[in-house]
Amino acid sequence: MTTPLLELKNITKSFGKVSAVDHVDMTINKGEIIGLIGDNGAGKSTFVKVISGVHTPDSGEIYVRGQKAQNWSVTKAREAGIETVYQDKALAVQQTIIRNIFMGREMTNAFGFMKTKKQYAEAERLMRTIGFTSKVFAPDSVVGTLSGGEMQGVAIARALYFKAQIIILDEPTTALSLTESEKVFNFIRRIKEDGRSCIFISHNIYHTYNAADRFVVLDRGKVVLRLRKDETTAEQLVKDMQDIARTGHYAGSGVTSNTSRN
Ligand SMILES: Nc1ncnc2c1ncn2[C@@H]1O[C@H](COP(=O)(O)OP(=O)(O)OP(=O)(O)O)[C@@H](O)[C@H]1O
Ligand SMILES: [Mg+2]
Repeated sequence: MTTPLLELKNITKSFGKVSAVDHVDMTINKGEIIGLIGDNGAGKSTFVKVISGVHTPDSGEIYVRGQKAQNWSVTKAREAGIETVYQDKALAVQQTIIRNIFMGREMTNAFGFMKTKKQYAEAERLMRTIGFTSKVFAPDSVVGTLSGGEMQGVAIARALYFKAQIIILDEPTTALSLTESEKVFNFIRRIKEDGRSCIFISHNIYHTYNAADRFVVLDRGKVVLRLRKDETTAEQLVKDMQDIARTGHYAGSGVTSNTSRN
């Protein structure tokens, strides 16, 4: 067995009386795409915000390549190679595409001056790589003038540039056109080909099924189901989700334990 890139053990996070994440375990291995599924309020965004250091968990442990992490934070998550594309896009809308891609980690020369031309060219290359070419916007366009899909592209370009080892995509395909969603799927394929990993969240189970190698289903903060792609179909997964929403638990043959092999 190789050491997992990241291991989350027994993670719990409450907001007042709301138990948003309730004793959740997850292991992320190199080169795998995990589909994190669950209804509105299931705890998906809260859980990934614990992973990216935005929320401090009430309890639980985080291991990076087998080493237990202390005082997990946004900075430590970044250092561990984790980049997140948030549902509530954390972009500076009044700033340019270039500024958003390189923010906090600008290209500078030996004297500390910004390499403006290089950043322009690199931003252009990154946007082209993920399939965003336009006569309407350029690397120095202000992000607030872009469409939702194009903004998502900027956030993805940022993750791509920093060669993140684990890329978290929280609802990247919501409100995207068909071609824009296809670009996100292409990007995920590239992540996998590069031997990098991804946690993908979407309300569209077909999108999740398409993108991921295995699935972890949350319901009111708890893991209720874990399945590999070869153990199910998209249709079955949709049916399972409907059952869980109706009955509050999973009645099929998938693995429901929080401490399963996944
Ligand atoms: N910052 C916060 N303060 C208080 N409660 C919160 C906060 N963030 C999330 N919650 C609550 O925690 C629960 C889980 O929310 P979360 O956003 O993680 O769900 P989700 O699975 O991402 O839902 P969605 O599919 O709608 O994005 C919800 O009941 C939500 O209201
Ligand atoms: Mg969410």
